Parts: sequence; structure tokens; C-alpha cells
Amino acid sequence: MSTSPALVVALDLPEKGPALALATRLQGVAPWVKVGLELYLSAGQEILSCLKDMGFKVFLDLKFMDIPNTVQAAVAQSTRMGADMLTVHALGGRTMCEAAAAGRDQALASGQTPPCILGVTLLTSLGPGDLAWNAQACGDDIRDLTVHLARSAQNWKLDGVVCSGREVRDIRQACGASFRLLTPGIRLPDADSEDQSRVCTPAQAARDGSDYLVVGRPITRSADPAQAARKYLEAIT
Ligand code: C5P
Repeated sequence: MSTSPALVVALDLPEKGPALALATRLQGVAPWVKVGLELYLSAGQEILSCLKDMGFKVFLDLKFMDIPNTVQAAVAQSTRMGADMLTVHALGGRTMCEAAAAGRDQALASGQTPPCILGVTLLTSLGPGDLAWNAQACGDDIRDLTVHLARSAQNWKLDGVVCSGREVRDIRQACGASFRLLTPGIRLPDADSEDQSRVCTPAQAARDGSDYLVVGRPITRSADPAQAARKYLEAIT
């Protein structure tokens, strides 16, 4: 890939005030912020308009997985709220993912700007031991399973997937240049991986062709979040 991936900072904070204070420090440094379950459950949809007004692109990471009708409606609501990107679980299957894509396409047809829809393959916190339930079907091979889920997500008309940096190269090869890849579990070589299992450096994920790198705690828990974000940006470029 010729362009560097975009940095997405995960605003995993429990309240709106501290989240916006952190976002203020990141203005002009990180183009994207991620609103996940913790912040959304506390701050609600208002947090999206605040962040959009500050000039951020917003990744709404609520990882939808429900019956197709509910997921399609959730995509429509997220569009109205101004989300630029959102997630559904690819493990939710064909009908659910196609319903999500239909929600996006309906929004487009009615002149709205829908979010890009990414399918979560396997959480980056999962390691080989966590896949015991699936060993028989997939040989317990995380890479094979994530590539399979990414191919499926593409067939089901999603715009891209969330995957660990360890699978980016294979998924890029399998799904082509225009399929969007977003990678959490990003750590500089000297950083603590915390509860993440399949971690990867920003340089490696960028080299292998990821489009978006998600970094949370190494930036949000730093005494100087803007400086920490700049370090990740330097490593990306
Ligand atoms: O703090 P850290 O950099 O580990 O945060 C990673 C963020 O990416 C978290 O908000 C987590 O919910 C999210 N995420 C992930 N693995 C996925 C999908 C999302 O870690 N497969």
C-alpha cells in the first residue's frame, strides 16, 4: 500500500467530560477517535456530535450482533447519528451482515452519508487457547479462521474487517486493495500488551497494508497523550 494508515485513538473512558478533555488534546494530531461501549453507555449519542463538531472522524465501535432486522435498524440509527465507521460481528453470519449492508445502501440511496461497515473477525484479545470450541472445524488456526471470516465479510458486502496485525498481510492478499482493514492491538515494541493477545507494532501493521490502526491505553493513559500519539504516528510513517 502506498499511503500510511490513519491513527484512530480509542477514547475508552467512563465519562463524557474526561473523554472530551482528552479529545481536545488530540485535536490536530489524530484524525479519528473511537467511541466504544464504555463511553457510549455513559455519554450516549451526544458524544458523537461533540466529537464531530471538534473535527474528528468518529468510529462507533459497538460491535453489533443481533437478528438481521435489529442490526439493519442499528445501522440506520448510527447513520443518523453521524458515525463515519461502525462494527458488526462477522460471526453474526451472512444474513445479519447482508442486512447491515442493506441498511448502509438504503441510507446511500436516500442521500445520506452512511458509515463504512467493518466486520469484526476475531477479537485481538483472543489467543489460540480461546478457540478450543472451534478446534474441530478450523484446526484451531486463528489465521485461517480470520482470513475465512474476512472473505465471508467481503462476500456479504461489508466494506472491510477488524483484524489483528498478524493477519493483515494474508487478508490483504485474499481480499484485495480496496477492502478496508482496521487493526487494534497495536503496541510500540516496548509497550505493555495488557489484555491484548495478538499484538503487533504500528510499523509492521503499516507495512503489511492496514488502513486504520487503533490505539487506546498507550495514548489515553499517558501523561502526555498528544506526544504519545505522535510517537505512534512516527512509527506508522
Ligand atoms: O487499549 P487498547 O489499545 O488495547 O485498545 C484497543 C481498542 O480496540 C479497544 O477499545 C477495544 O475495544 C478495541 N478492539 C480490540 N479488538 C478488536 C476490536 C476492537 O481491541 N478485535
